[in-house]
Amino acid sequence: MHIVVVGTGYVGLVTGACFAEMGLTVTCVDIDAAKVAALREGIIPIHEPGLETLVKTNVAEGRLMFTTSLAEAMASSGIYFIAVGTPSGEDGSADLRHVLNVAREIGRNLTSYAVIVDKSTVPVGTADQVRAAIREELDARGEQLEFDVVSNPEFLKEGAAVADFMKPDRIIVGADSERAAETMRRIYAPFNRNRLRTLFMGVRDAEMTKYAANAMLATKISFINEIAALCDCLDVDVENVRRGIGSDQRIGFQFIYPGCGYGGSCFPKDVKALIHTARNCDFTPRLLDAVEQRNREQRRVLFDKITARFGADLSGLSFGLWGLAFKPGTDDMREAPSKVLIEALLAAGARVRAYDPVAMEVARRELPAAALADGRLVLADNQYAALAGVDAMVLVTEWKPFRFPDFAAMKTAMKQPIIFDGRNQYDPRMISDEGFEYVGIGRRG
Ligand code: UDX
Repeated sequence: MHIVVVGTGYVGLVTGACFAEMGLTVTCVDIDAAKVAALREGIIPIHEPGLETLVKTNVAEGRLMFTTSLAEAMASSGIYFIAVGTPSGEDGSADLRHVLNVAREIGRNLTSYAVIVDKSTVPVGTADQVRAAIREELDARGEQLEFDVVSNPEFLKEGAAVADFMKPDRIIVGADSERAAETMRRIYAPFNRNRLRTLFMGVRDAEMTKYAANAMLATKISFINEIAALCDCLDVDVENVRRGIGSDQRIGFQFIYPGCGYGGSCFPKDVKALIHTARNCDFTPRLLDAVEQRNREQRRVLFDKITARFGADLSGLSFGLWGLAFKPGTDDMREAPSKVLIEALLAAGARVRAYDPVAMEVARRELPAAALADGRLVLADNQYAALAGVDAMVLVTEWKPFRFPDFAAMKTAMKQPIIFDGRNQYDPRMISDEGFEYVGIGRRG
């Protein structure tokens, strides 16, 4: 079987490489010629464990191809995945421009029955718009061809995307025709060999499932962050509370880690998009509004704790940040709490030194250029160099090398031994035994 995947971003590339690994022939299409040329050489633009090897082996074995021409790719297949970006519009809505452009191009080049699969995260009703865009192009050519539009959202975690794709908890397929459902059943058959993982439903149901999953997970995080804030007021240790509630199987331990807010390319964007969808139907999403607002505040929690300790004017002070990526295992800094913190620290007059095990190259592009140029913001060579002369260390991303650091080396490097632990990675008592002042999120020192 041969499939086409349009868009070689995070989702498209993982989808294409994993299907190829399972034995399908895959053509990935992207309008970015430089990216396509690099991918043909096995050079991948993102840091994702296992992906580079998958791309290289499958390219070498001829199952994975890259091209800039959708028309050419379409000639060899009748299954087209749309996996292009859906950025947040000004008002929080998902911007469907790229998705609909691809749909129109498919319409212009369609010559026989095809299944068009929406893989991008798109609001309820998008499949109808994709269908209409394709139909319009067919009508313009006087073509009566049949086609189906399917919704097949992804549930990939960055840093574990290959494993998530290969062993999914579930595969969601929204299809409104038996013919399209059968096509999807066939291409996902290798993933269902030991256990039936595919859930079939209506197209709109599938579109909603994706948003509901991410909104539920974001809700868990905002909930525990709110509880942590309350623990701070009440002199309660949220770590004990987290363990206490997580042991109830109905609650569970996952996604109840308090921290400095959720980031990344999905949760912030998807929660906002769902809020926007709700308002469009004159519905007030009280809970989702609160989830979003709590997260907006949470991403400032470290800065607030720093100013509570040092005062509002931070000039003359310097801070060493550990971790820039929005979470460990990735170099992605989209919506990262580190960016919010760095901007706030610089605006308050502080100097910042920062280190991340993999996101340094991305950081050079994403962080304020003026501060990098004049030295107010320094990207350090290693985690200890990031602490040279600083008044406090701030743990922003819980990378493994930060978990058991060399406390003596830290103290030698730092001007003042103070730790702000944005991910509750350390035991406050142990840290104070090491001679540090400790500030966590909802922790009792
Ligand atoms: C998420 C979903 O997990 C995935 O199913 C979906 O397809 C895309 O969005 P991802 O953005 O890669 O994946 O990251 P994830 O590991 O889910 O973490 C999201 C954010 O929540 C991170 O900023 C993380 O630090 C934060 N988080 C997570 C917490 O603050 N506390 C937790 O307990 C869990």
